[in-house]
Amino acid sequence: MFKILLPFSILIAFATACDSDSSSEEPNDVDCSLLTYQNFGEPFLADYCLGCHSSSAANRNGAPGAVNFDTLEEVRTRSIRMNARAGIGMTMPPVNGPSPQEREDLSQWIGCGNP
Ligand code: HEC
Repeated sequence: MFKILLPFSILIAFATACDSDSSSEEPNDVDCSLLTYQNFGEPFLADYCLGCHSSSAANRNGAPGAVNFDTLEEVRTRSIRMNARAGIGMTMPPVNGPSPQEREDLSQWIGCGNP
C-alpha cells in the first residue's frame, strides 16, 4: 500500500508546493483533521484534567489556581506544558489517567495546534 501511494504523494507534494493553503505546520504523516477539540480535546480534558484544573472544580487537589483548561483558549496557552506533563510525559494526572494511545493522541492534537 505504502509503495503504491508513495509516488503519488510525491506528485501531490510537488503539485501543492506553491499552494499557500497547504498546511506546512502539520507534522509528518499526521492527518490533522482527525483529532479536534470537539471530538477529542474536550472529552479528554473532562475525563482526565478538569477534576482539578477547572475554575469550577470542587476540590483542586493542589492544582495551581491559574492552570485551568476550561476553554480552548486556556488549553492553547498551556499546550506545551500539557504535552510535557500528560502527552510525552506521564506525570499528569498524578494518579491513574489516560492510556498510552490517548497520551499519543494528546501529543498529536497539540502538535497540530489544537484544532
Ligand atoms: C488530581 C488532581 C489533578 C488532575 C486530575 C490533573 N492535575 Fe495537573 N496538576 C495538579 C497539581 C497538584 C499540580 C501542581 C503540582 C505539579 O506541578 O506537579 C498540577 C500542575 C499541572 C500543570 C502546571 C505545572 C507545569 O508543569 O507546567 C500542568 C500543565 C498540568 N498540571 C497539566 C495537567 C493535565 C494536562 C491534566 C490532565 C491530563 C492534569 N494536569 C490533571 C493536579 C492535577
